[in-house]
Amino acid sequence: MTTSVKDRQSQTETLLKKAKAVGITTQEIDELRDVLRFHEYRYYIQSDPLISDFEYDTLYKSLEALETENPDLVVPDSPTQRVGKGLTKDFPTVQHLVPMLSLDNSYNSDDLLDFDRKAREATGLSEIEYCVEPKFDGASISLVYEDDKLVRGATRGDGMYGDDITPNIRQIRTIPLTAKFSAHGLQTAEIRGEVLINKNNFKVFNEALVEAGNQPLANPRNAASGTLRIKDPLEVGRRKLEAFVYSLGYYTTLKGQTEDFTTHAETLQMLYELGFRSPEREKKVLKGIQAVIDYCNEFEVKRDDLPYEIDGMVVKVNAFELQDKLGMTTHHPRWAIAFKFKARQATSKLLRIEYQVGRTGNIGPVAKVEPVPIGGVMVASVSLFNEDVIREKDIRIGDTVLVERAGDVIPYIVKAMPELRDGTEQPIQFPTHCPSCNDPLFRAEEEAAWRCINIVCPAQVLERLFHFASKDAMDIRGLGVANIEKFYKLGLLTSIPHIYQLDYEAIGQLEGFGAKSIDKLKAAIESTKKQPLHRLIFALGIRYVGETTAKTLAHAVDHILDLQNFSEEDLKALEDIGPKVAGSVHAFFKNDDTIELLKTLESLGLTLANEKKQYATAGNLQGLTFLFTGTLNKLKRSEAEELVEQNGGTVVSGVSSKLAYLVVGDDAGSKLEKAKKITSIKIITEDQFLKIIGRE
Ligand code: IVH
Repeated sequence: MTTSVKDRQSQTETLLKKAKAVGITTQEIDELRDVLRFHEYRYYIQSDPLISDFEYDTLYKSLEALETENPDLVVPDSPTQRVGKGLTKDFPTVQHLVPMLSLDNSYNSDDLLDFDRKAREATGLSEIEYCVEPKFDGASISLVYEDDKLVRGATRGDGMYGDDITPNIRQIRTIPLTAKFSAHGLQTAEIRGEVLINKNNFKVFNEALVEAGNQPLANPRNAASGTLRIKDPLEVGRRKLEAFVYSLGYYTTLKGQTEDFTTHAETLQMLYELGFRSPEREKKVLKGIQAVIDYCNEFEVKRDDLPYEIDGMVVKVNAFELQDKLGMTTHHPRWAIAFKFKARQATSKLLRIEYQVGRTGNIGPVAKVEPVPIGGVMVASVSLFNEDVIREKDIRIGDTVLVERAGDVIPYIVKAMPELRDGTEQPIQFPTHCPSCNDPLFRAEEEAAWRCINIVCPAQVLERLFHFASKDAMDIRGLGVANIEKFYKLGLLTSIPHIYQLDYEAIGQLEGFGAKSIDKLKAAIESTKKQPLHRLIFALGIRYVGETTAKTLAHAVDHILDLQNFSEEDLKALEDIGPKVAGSVHAFFKNDDTIELLKTLESLGLTLANEKKQYATAGNLQGLTFLFTGTLNKLKRSEAEELVEQNGGTVVSGVSSKLAYLVVGDDAGSKLEKAKKITSIKIITEDQFLKIIGRE
């Protein structure tokens, strides 16, 4: 019988306590191995770890120590002999050209001093030169280039074997499909890196999940590794993954040639120049460990300002010659170490649950916890997302809970700590009625969210108004949350069209609203009538329609009402629009209330037409026509087209003598062949296009 998650967790707690206090005994070695294997599976395969890296390391090191003391107890499938076990079967398994080792971890300057001392002793040098760079918190990948072409992309898997995910890897724009390794004497190059989703895209992605009533992903790392395993490359493309590459794992040289680098820092520069994103700017070459410690501490402070997650720094001996001299153990190199930043976790007490009603009626439970500082921010409210999260994590009122806050990602409850219960904790009763309008709640079979379906539910109306006026939507200055609430309570603002018909006389009677502030508010509201169409589309709060999709939709029409005539198939044909979004947009524009709302807004003077003239600036492409073909690496097709229009040019749909420029991406086909026959057409690359418009 397999052991339940709960039992594994309690075994973990017990072993951790022992590891910290009396130590784990040889009688418990099998249990310790099972527990480690369980956590490796949660981490590598399910992308849903239940313990922190630090806790994992503590257990791992205990096992290592036990095995070192008792070599006869070592078994071939011990976690110390092979990192991770069991791979997903959805993708073909491939063997890495050389094993992808992991790094040993350090948590403080003493650990780094120790690492440096060992390195100096082994090399006989009095001072070592290090290259220090961020430790990206994503999913590791290996990329194989042969004769300058990307031929394989794989996950790390267990370090020996990974999943071949080449089609998904090809969707990542920051990974070039061709790179001139031959210019550096290389024939085969295996590049290692980390796939990430940046904090902003992660937020958008999670919001969509929550909106659909699904459980959001805990952090960007889980989002990145989960996305890499999706069997639909187009969906992978939509999720906007990015990749940083940080090392050349293996290479062969071209006949008669030699490589032109001798240090790690030089390879980072080479990769950067070849078109990869490497930590070229973030890396620092430093002599002596004290400078390394200082740089690590300096970077930790900047951590939250970065657009992506890092969980530490990696310290690498810079010269390859010294790296070779130092060699490796079975699982990590002796020439590199990770310096892990302080965990952004803390424990607190769960005081009560509040239930918030979202724009589309979804009921979001929010845990109110005793305020606790995590990574410099006081956390008092933590979203629990939906009822299933509460049930799965068995969270109770009064529980001590472990809270994590990853960067500017919203904090979440990692787990409750049942071992600290005193019996007074109360199970959470999810409400059956809307906390705002008291209507009964419903839960669709395929959804995790309970919803209030009362379209005039005050909480939903307010949320829709907040969203409409918000900065990224119509950006109505002076109509923030507080004023909307105030006007709504007094019946001065009841719907979106009402924003453009406010009774300023009545508002003028309110405290704090003098003639000046009224004029300002009036002018702010008036000016938003001319907001570009994509902002209005976003502001309408259509389910699953974020800013990017709103732009795509606006771009596809001359007037918003044209969307009434788009079938789901038509919508799916647009860039980055999948079936779910298409279904939602289709239903929205088939609804009579929507059409009435839009007509009312138009009669109130809002811009519902796609005034493309907004792009016709005095750019340098005036009078020129462009067409894009093949896969672009740096820009999305829609971005490229928008750039043409912003610079005064026109995008055409076919190759003819009227075409001035054909911009050719990877794998271009018939359009390129046709264009080659018309001598007046200039055929250019994406980089040349970027140069023309002054982007590079
Ligand atoms: S070097 C042989 N550099 O951290 C050592 N790793 O256990 C190869 N990681 O899964 C790793 N950023 O994917 C290296 N700048 C960086 C890194 C990095 C993130 C990941 C790597 C690996 C884990 C280390």
